[in-house]
Amino acid sequence: MTNEFEVTPYRVSGEIDYDVLIERFGTKRIDEAMLKRLSRYGPLHPMLRRGLVYSQRDLDWLLNEYDKGNKFSLYTGRGPSGPVHLGHLIPWAFSRYLQDTFKVKMWFQLTDDEKFMFYDHLTLDETKKWGYENALDFIALGFDPELTKIFLDTEYIKTMYPLAVRAAKKITFSTIRAVFGFDNSYNIGSIFFTSIQTVPCFLESVEQGKKIPCLIPCGIDQDPHFRITRDIAEGLGYYKPALIHSKLMPSLAGPEKMSTSGNREMAIFTIDDKKTVKRKTSNAFTGGRVSVEEQRKLGGQPEVCSVHAYFNYFFESDDAKIREMYDECRAGKILCGECKERLFEKVWNFLEVHQKKRLEAKKVLDDFFVRD
Ligand code: TYM
Repeated sequence: MTNEFEVTPYRVSGEIDYDVLIERFGTKRIDEAMLKRLSRYGPLHPMLRRGLVYSQRDLDWLLNEYDKGNKFSLYTGRGPSGPVHLGHLIPWAFSRYLQDTFKVKMWFQLTDDEKFMFYDHLTLDETKKWGYENALDFIALGFDPELTKIFLDTEYIKTMYPLAVRAAKKITFSTIRAVFGFDNSYNIGSIFFTSIQTVPCFLESVEQGKKIPCLIPCGIDQDPHFRITRDIAEGLGYYKPALIHSKLMPSLAGPEKMSTSGNREMAIFTIDDKKTVKRKTSNAFTGGRVSVEEQRKLGGQPEVCSVHAYFNYFFESDDAKIREMYDECRAGKILCGECKERLFEKVWNFLEVHQKKRLEAKKVLDDFFVRD
């Protein structure tokens, strides 16, 4: 595999080598010892068992504090630039598992300001509207309203601003350039923005009036923001946030990450209807051969197949079943059409229920949202 890939919060390109990324970012692999430790708090989530949630920072420290009785808060977020796709659900479903397992508070940030500043085609009203839409998906995953706070940056800025300016004063433009790859053409809001994404790491501490550890479950593309946060946290009087990173679910076109701004035919959105899901899954890239005969003879290539990846990431929780599907594909016993049909069924069964829960969530939005 080549080294030619890039992962920042603003650009993911090439075929990601996740082992190399651990070295580049300086994070720690979630190893056997960590899995064993985590299994003491409850059954391991399939994403942990399968190495999809695979990297961390300071997780040992965080669990040591928890064991001493110092509960942490969770923090994650969404940049509301359009509808939520299945990839976004990866860190959020995992966050839900963490909240259930540790019974801890969750802060969920909707960065309407960020997406407005980074995208020419979006107005601030639109990013705000998407923020409220995207919050429905988050709530639909079953977060505890007693323990979960959701906010839009532009509606919570009075609370956040004092912390944001204290953070901003400690971050230089040259750090921003080096970490995010920005040049002089970027607007100054984009340059400032990371200080806003830093703030929620400390909101629980502010609320409780004492230092509270924070754990951020997120896709590994967001890590660069928090490297900066970790460098300045202690200088601001708080703990460095701990992180737990997931890999990025590929698009239906193959190995590149699913994204809202990429080819919309190759991402499945949570608001897609049945016909759309059927069309998208039918057109998915697989590891199939040129003809049925070849496939029966040579077997398929599940390791490059996006359909297989979808089962593995989200749509098949039974490890034995996943292995069986992999082996059957390899042996040429099942063909791509069957797998696509099976995936369609799984995705649609999930989305049909999820879409009902999204509608239900509209009634309880105010139980979750905090505003200035
Ligand atoms: P955003 O909206 O790009 O992504 C939201 C979350 O989804 C993850 N993600 C994915 N995970 C798996 N597979 C994919 N294909 C995929 N695409 C996106 C992202 O890593 C992220 O965890 N600036 C942030 C919003 C934010 C945030 C945070 C995210 C604010 N505070 C704290 C994480 C933690 C953003 O635009 O995320």
